Amino acid sequence: MTHGQFPYIRGRRLRANAALRDMVAEHHLKPTDFIAPVFVMEGENKKEEIASMPDYYRYTIDLLVDEIRELQDEGIRSVLVFVKVPEQKKDNEGTEAINPEGLMQRSVRAIKDEFPNMLVMTDVALDPYSSYGHDGIVRDDEILNDESVEILSEMAVSHARAGADIIAPSDMMDGRIGAMRTALDEADFKNIGLMAYSAKYASSYYGPFRDALDSAPGFGDKKTYQMDPANAREAIKEAQLDEQEGADIVMVKPGLPYLDVVRAVKENVSVPVSVYNVSGEYAMLKAAAAKGWLNEEEAMMEALIGFKRAGADLIATYFAKAAAKVLNEN
Ligand code: PBG
Repeated sequence: MTHGQFPYIRGRRLRANAALRDMVAEHHLKPTDFIAPVFVMEGENKKEEIASMPDYYRYTIDLLVDEIRELQDEGIRSVLVFVKVPEQKKDNEGTEAINPEGLMQRSVRAIKDEFPNMLVMTDVALDPYSSYGHDGIVRDDEILNDESVEILSEMAVSHARAGADIIAPSDMMDGRIGAMRTALDEADFKNIGLMAYSAKYASSYYGPFRDALDSAPGFGDKKTYQMDPANAREAIKEAQLDEQEGADIVMVKPGLPYLDVVRAVKENVSVPVSVYNVSGEYAMLKAAAAKGWLNEEEAMMEALIGFKRAGADLIATYFAKAAAKVLNEN
């Protein structure tokens, strides 16, 4: 007795060995898909492991350069820079964010001096600089939009002046992409790109990152500017608006709980789509692997190919170096 097309059609034929499986694989990962986030701190000759991110470190600029050499040796071509700002330099306006001698600006210069071909992306938001730990300026418990966009645009220009290749605004203020595009153009940075965190959700998965930078909000949460996890159509609206305002790349963040959003955005914009496999996703996998509950390498590669399958062109991930190593060995 036959059931439908069986036994003539057998899905297992194409799964019989590695050569067949590789030949028909619909998606592939390569080291150039990855954007490696890096955390920088003040000082010299120091590296500190981030408690909630095993095997991930904050570096002083001198040691960061060595780390970037390792990334480059594994074929990674882009890094996304975050800085841990000393407490005494924080204020409500995030003034330190536009200091030409600030930690971010010095980090960018140091990386570009040593590795001119490494693409340097910089995070633009006030939280690491804000005494309130919010992404914009605070007044009467409100996160001001238009006033914040002004300083964020200055921040973007300041990063470009330091040598950044791509500016990555993660603040979720309305209208910031258009404002930054104008500010960059007026400062003669017409070819400096914008990677917009377009669909950035108010997520508990950012917890370990906030430990890394000591940037947790001092009051309230980020729900008046970051998106509601219940919404997907709104992500399309945000991504399309950013595309119209001049974003060169749009991003969805976090990653694993939002793969449907990656797919939806991919189908509704024509710029490249990037996804951020955030700190909490890294922490979960590392914790389970440390307990022997998951095979770390396999679970990592499975998550990363999942992003490609969902439609991501680029993946910002704390696994960048480890995954590139796996790819280079095979
Ligand atoms: C800053 C910013 C955050 C992340 C990237 N940029 C934290 C936040 O918005 O609170 C999170 C990254 C991660 O968790 O890996 N605006």
